[in-house]
Amino acid sequence: MLRRLHAEQPDSFAFTPANLEWAQGQMTKFPEGRQASAVIPILWRAQEQEGWLSRPAIEEVARMLDLAYIRVLEVATFYFMFQLQPVGSVAHIQICGTLSCMICGAEDLVEVCKKEIAVEPHAISADGKLSWEEVECLGSCSNAPMAQIGKDYYEDLTTERFTEIVAELRAGKVPLPGPQNGRYAAEPEGGLTSLKEYESGHTQYNASVQLAADIGDTVKRIDGTEVPILTPWVSKGGKTTPPKAQPRPKSAVQQEKEQSKTEKPAKAKPAKKAKPAAKTEAAAPLAEEAGTKPKTLDAARDGQPDDLKQIKGIGPKLEKLCNSLGFYHFDQIAAWTADEIAWVDTNLAGFKGRVSRDEWVSQAKTLAAGGETQFSSRVKDGGVY
Ligand code: FES
Repeated sequence: MLRRLHAEQPDSFAFTPANLEWAQGQMTKFPEGRQASAVIPILWRAQEQEGWLSRPAIEEVARMLDLAYIRVLEVATFYFMFQLQPVGSVAHIQICGTLSCMICGAEDLVEVCKKEIAVEPHAISADGKLSWEEVECLGSCSNAPMAQIGKDYYEDLTTERFTEIVAELRAGKVPLPGPQNGRYAAEPEGGLTSLKEYESGHTQYNASVQLAADIGDTVKRIDGTEVPILTPWVSKGGKTTPPKAQPRPKSAVQQEKEQSKTEKPAKAKPAKKAKPAAKTEAAAPLAEEAGTKPKTLDAARDGQPDDLKQIKGIGPKLEKLCNSLGFYHFDQIAAWTADEIAWVDTNLAGFKGRVSRDEWVSQAKTLAAGGETQFSSRVKDGGVY
């Protein structure tokens, strides 16, 4: 398959401060002069931040690692895990179309995608939430047919179950990944025929599904709201000392361009290129038009804001954003009506849809009443970093 940069590109790319710190931490993992080895994790972080890799993002990674742009472009275009065009805001679904999956029904799953998401792969659904593509073998052939959604595998799919999963994702739910036909992992459908003595020691789900179930989210992207996970020596208080990005020597073409700029009479600046609109099948309504603004406060009552990070889905950055919008307390969030949720959902710049997706209101109700959620207990125990 031909993998090219998207026809429409944004004007620029910049890592958020948290993501930049993380990326610099990655660069310190390698000996001086070998920072190029961090190219895949840093490209991945750029994709996690934006949902896809734009040309400015690839150029920025090349600049950070002091690599020729073409070297980073080669990596980004080689691996299918890198998306070179905008993807759905909730999930990008990758259907395995290789032999085992194909003979077990992958083509039917593709038909579901065409019907429920968009006729063409890599196009975004009318509501902007989902996109899909067909990929090569994902290494889960014994659980065919399967799809990767977000970071997890959904296996032993039928068209009925897959249609339900798509609907659940669209509704902001997180369907449990793993085998969808009751199998624990990849054992025979009739149950184990050997090594039965190990069956009793099982966790409720197989290892990767158990992890996904514990985290409670399979499609959430790393967005900088997390406390940055740095390299161990950095997070323990050591210094992040990535080598300084050197300005790359200018190519002959660049030099020529700059020279011609200074020689030509000044022209009126052309209108700024519009940001690329994701390929959609119908125009989405303007976000700002939705809902009603909830009551806000100028400051926390008695100068004592609640720790909103006890709500799953709110990290330090989102907490700051909530405070800047006038939300400081659990009871404020607990009181939001559906109309108000819609307003907040559409006005969380860079975090649209988080309130309903992470069910802030129900969590806030518990916390406002003095109760605990599983997540808030983990925060208090220091189990959330
Ligand atoms: S053929 Fe689909 S996972 Fe291998």
